[in-house]
Amino acid sequence: MTSPAWYYDDMRQVGVDFEDDDQVASYDERQQATAADDNRLLDDLGLGPDDVFADIGCGTGILVVEAAKRCRHAHGADVSSRMLDQAKKRAAGAGIDTIAFHHAGFLSVGLAPSSIDLITSKYALHHLPDFWKGMALERLYRALKPDGRLFLRDVVFSATPAAFPSVADAWTAWMLANTGYAPDEIAGHIRDEHSTYAWIMEGLIRAAGFRLERATYSQQAYGDFLAIKDP
Ligand SMILES: C[S@@+](CC[C@H](N)C(=O)[O-])C[C@H]1O[C@@H](n2cnc3c(N)ncnc32)[C@H](O)[C@@H]1O
Repeated sequence: MTSPAWYYDDMRQVGVDFEDDDQVASYDERQQATAADDNRLLDDLGLGPDDVFADIGCGTGILVVEAAKRCRHAHGADVSSRMLDQAKKRAAGAGIDTIAFHHAGFLSVGLAPSSIDLITSKYALHHLPDFWKGMALERLYRALKPDGRLFLRDVVFSATPAAFPSVADAWTAWMLANTGYAPDEIAGHIRDEHSTYAWIMEGLIRAAGFRLERATYSQQAYGDFLAIKDP
């Protein structure tokens, strides 16, 4: 189906260029992503053996591969072909052949309606402007089965505009001490990407039709959201 002329092209790289080989090669180490952390998350979310799972913005594929080890079928979608190559390599290395990989984004991935039990997305939705986050969330809502769940984790600011400069300073200091990101990359995230306010994220999730089961924030810079598609 062709999209209307006004539709957003979500295959473009916004902010960090995840088609860049150096970005991809250094990503896991800089982000300090581990299979152990993702398994704790999957334990918490209760992904079961009969479930169908999807991770949008799957990056190098740690989460989708760990999920596929526990569930019936999984989807991994990303707009970066280089990230997808890494994810496919990881799946092959783990002997997993139950993941459908999609070179597509939130607004272009073709997930069948009412087909997924659990959708996750970590640190990816901020690549879309707020209006398009809303459209993306509505598409994820449609892809979920009744009672299906959406887990989102992202850089989300739970601060007022007036308080934000001190949050930015504290977050930058924390990132420099605890991750492999440089000052210009952190500044670029705030300036050029689309991390938004907590109250906007909560409103967008509800406007897409979800019941927001829980929202937890840390450092006024991170948000975890668990949202349910009530039958
Ligand atoms: C910061 S990385 C997060 C990767 C992974 N989810 C993780 O937690 O490690 C952001 C990922 O989102 C992807 N991305 C950017 N824009 C996207 C979009 N519109 N739809 C889906 N994925 C997108 C990037 O290519 C990149 O792989």
